[in-house]
Amino acid sequence: VEVVDEADGAEGIGRRAADVVAEELAAGRLATFGVATGSSPLQVYADLAARRLPGWDAVEVFALDEYVGLPAGDPRSYAAVVEEEVRAPLGLDPARVHVPDGTATTEAGLAAACAAYEAALTARGGADVQLLGIGATGHIGFNEPGSPLSSRTRVVELAATTVADNARFFARPEDVPRRAVTQGVATIATARRHVLIARGEHKAEAVRAALEGPVSPACPASAVRTFADVLVLLDPAAASRL
Ligand code: GLP
Repeated sequence: VEVVDEADGAEGIGRRAADVVAEELAAGRLATFGVATGSSPLQVYADLAARRLPGWDAVEVFALDEYVGLPAGDPRSYAAVVEEEVRAPLGLDPARVHVPDGTATTEAGLAAACAAYEAALTARGGADVQLLGIGATGHIGFNEPGSPLSSRTRVVELAATTVADNARFFARPEDVPRRAVTQGVATIATARRHVLIARGEHKAEAVRAALEGPVSPACPASAVRTFADVLVLLDPAAASRL
């Protein structure tokens, strides 16, 4: 766990996480890059883009999760966020950027999309580096409390707190998706290196539960303590209950 100086803020955390990704890329070990949405990792992508590193065109990118029910191309979809914040700035090959497909209109279609996504990622042996945020509920990806640590890519119901947290991106409360497709906890665990980022007082309790509470489905982020190579980057507010 590293607590990054207040003065360095989001930029300091972004730089530190970008160092890890850049090190793997430069060493030729970043075949697969696992990306997260949310505000926490945005500075990582901005920092990496500013470095103009060679080699991005050969990297496969897998996102953690996607809302269920938004139409393809919806600007609030994680596919759109990944396009805007990750693919375009880094100059990635669009054919190598993978986001779970939450657009199917039947349960069978969604289940098939989940299985295909899980298979595509595991066929590559999982991510070489996986970025993670943490939800106020202790979720990673959209694995809410109660998610088995053995879970794989699937459709999940979002916790009420998460729906409320996401409401700021939608015009009307009834527009906020109630379900998502997410990599499971065990899917996320297949990555070789993980970097978890949390900033702000509103994450302090989830960070404490993840790092000091029991390793349990009650706090899916606690699973990071079973991962082999994890860097946790916190600002002082997010670290305030440790
Ligand atoms: C969403 C994403 C998570 C992310 C979380 C935190 O719920 N599905 O992967 O970690 O947001 O978001 P933020 O970083 O904006 O606090």
